[in-house]
Amino acid sequence: MTTVKVKLGIRSYPIIIGTGAVKRLARAMPRRPSHIRCFTFFDAGVYPLYHTIVNRSLSGKRIQSSEFVLPSGEQSKSAEAAGALYDFLLDQQVSRSDFILAVGGGVVSDVVGYVAATTMRGIHWGILPTTLLSMVDAAIGGKTGINHRSGKNLIGAFWQPRFVVCDLDFLRTLAQRDLVAGLGEIVKYAGLIGEPMLSLVQRYLEKGELHDENMLQSLVQKSAAFKGAIVAADEHDNGRRAVLNLGHTFAHGVEHSMGYAELRHGEAVVLGLLAATELSSRYWKSAAKYLVPYRRIIEQVMRFVPKTRIDIDKALAAMSVDKKRVSQVQRFVLLSRPGSPHIISDVSPNAARKSLEAALHTYESIGGVNATHSGR
Ligand SMILES: NC(=O)c1ccc[n+]([C@@H]2O[C@H](COP(=O)([O-])OP(=O)(O)OC[C@H]3O[C@@H](n4cnc5c(N)ncnc54)[C@H](O)[C@@H]3O)[C@@H](O)[C@H]2O)c1
Ligand SMILES: [Zn+2]
Repeated sequence: MTTVKVKLGIRSYPIIIGTGAVKRLARAMPRRPSHIRCFTFFDAGVYPLYHTIVNRSLSGKRIQSSEFVLPSGEQSKSAEAAGALYDFLLDQQVSRSDFILAVGGGVVSDVVGYVAATTMRGIHWGILPTTLLSMVDAAIGGKTGINHRSGKNLIGAFWQPRFVVCDLDFLRTLAQRDLVAGLGEIVKYAGLIGEPMLSLVQRYLEKGELHDENMLQSLVQKSAAFKGAIVAADEHDNGRRAVLNLGHTFAHGVEHSMGYAELRHGEAVVLGLLAATELSSRYWKSAAKYLVPYRRIIEQVMRFVPKTRIDIDKALAAMSVDKKRVSQVQRFVLLSRPGSPHIISDVSPNAARKSLEAALHTYESIGGVNATHSGR
């Protein structure tokens, strides 16, 4: 069991990582367990698998808990779904001394965190992330929110949890596609960190067992520590936190062009990362040779990303819509070498197009080679 700390002064919190970590839930609570009323929100796919163990961990420490199950999938990040959560809490006279617990992937932590932030102007909450993506990304950093018909995550709040408990046992039941989606973000961190994270990811891929718990423990720990440190340095995303968007300008374009269907976000990130290395190599001549080992890792992961048709013009058009929303200039995170990210805003549209074209070309030849079709 290891603990990584997100250092935010009095709002600092631990990320507890390990097999069997669910047993630490009660100890992680901010108050004496017997004084806590906990409202626990589960993802519907997670509930039948894990509600007994979660509730046992809470009731063993005499925490009173009431539970609510949210439908799985992105549609739960809506104003309607949030409305049902407010009703549930307020009908039971929730008070500001109560506690909210989110059990599920990024969908559940985003919507539940937003409801926690806005009910009675903020109720303390904690997260038990159950997907790899949420352990390394969505559960860390306090970005909460729901979608609007004009775009994803447009309504939200910063509301840091009091703890994140990552029980690696929970990953055993995760479909390969969802593991790969989390791996997309882990590979992103490897590009941002450089060595020794790159070698770690390489060893994990060589082992060929994506559910290997020891490897996952190290990968989750290193990723969480990295994201936690970036969040501590730039909580509200006014500067340094933007490096976490490595590969994401392209990924958002690709996802948007497909109406957010067909590929998981983390899978689109894998394509985006390859395009970002292409663009980096166009931007700095010397980058190409430094990025060879990193590209090799991205390509290995790309083999797990199911093959689907991507319309490059639509993806590029979606990228410029995204740009208008964030700022007037298109910004890319590029790597002069692994571990050296830069935020660049003078990229030519032609270089961006060529880079995406090259990445999609590689995807067409190797995408899906190792994909299972057992996922959703
Ligand atoms: N707040 C942030 O900083 C942040 C960062 C990244 C992503 N996100 C958001 O996260 C969401 C995606 O999250 P996600 O990838 O975790 O997907 P998800 O929450 O949709 O979960 C994916 C699927 O896995 C199933 N599942 C979850 N845990 C399981 C387990 N242990 N065993 C078996 N099945 C399990 C769920 O039922 C669901 O069907 C997106 O909405 C994205 O916008 C937020
Ligand atoms: Zn992402």
